[in-house]
Amino acid sequence: MSGRRIEILKHAQAVHVRAAEEIAHFAGEAVSTLGEFPLCLAGGKTPEGAYAYLAERLRSSVDWKEVHFFWSDERCVAPTDAASNFAMAERTLLGRLRIAAHQVHRIQGELAPAEAAAAYEAELRAFFSLADGDLPRFALILLGLGENAHVASLFPSAAVLRETQRLVAAVEVDDPHPRRITLTPAVLNNARAIIFMVTGRNKAPAVKAVLEGPADADRFPGQLIAPSDGQVIWLLDQEAASLLSAESRETAR
Ligand code: 6PG
Repeated sequence: MSGRRIEILKHAQAVHVRAAEEIAHFAGEAVSTLGEFPLCLAGGKTPEGAYAYLAERLRSSVDWKEVHFFWSDERCVAPTDAASNFAMAERTLLGRLRIAAHQVHRIQGELAPAEAAAAYEAELRAFFSLADGDLPRFALILLGLGENAHVASLFPSAAVLRETQRLVAAVEVDDPHPRRITLTPAVLNNARAIIFMVTGRNKAPAVKAVLEGPADADRFPGQLIAPSDGQVIWLLDQEAASLLSAESRETAR
């Protein structure tokens, strides 16, 4: 089932709550149909509130022993580094829920980038039992959106935007944490469901460009996200949605 839904919520906290509720919903659906919930976490700061709410207020709503945690991308830093997307998830979610090590499939940011990318790709192939040419199909992928409309570590004009063979790539980006490992567009677009969490006025131009702008995925990589057989849910606060047209806002929940 494909399609896009936009929800505009009062403020960032409401986005965190809705995201946590949706994650719990998708977890229940996946565990009952697949027997497990392969979940791909977003990095950055926005998801922190959603992860904390999930761990503290929805702890009993998910069969956590069936959840397998992956990441959409990672900075090339140690897992204890404050910039690590793994470290953020460990602090806000995994550690609080005492998730077992075998359920955590982190990107090894401490390795040389090419090695980290190869190791993560091997981990995906093993977990999803992929044959050559197959793509992993996550039950749910969480994403944020950068001010420059990047998603994961797919930045504007990057060669990786046109990657069609690899599942994972090592990239250098224009960011305070330039060296990164990222899932490639094909993997993101093979998800059953994708939830974007975007808050703050600083993100409004990127939201406008991705949802309503002229087609230009090279300039606005968020436009690449269009699963062939999957739904996309945008959870926006009013500030991030503030430049959207009246039509988009009317159709939003
Ligand atoms: C990262 C993320 C990145 C993030 C956006 C938004 O490693 O930085 O994967 O894609 O989702 O940059 O970041 P904020 O939520 O911090 O605004």
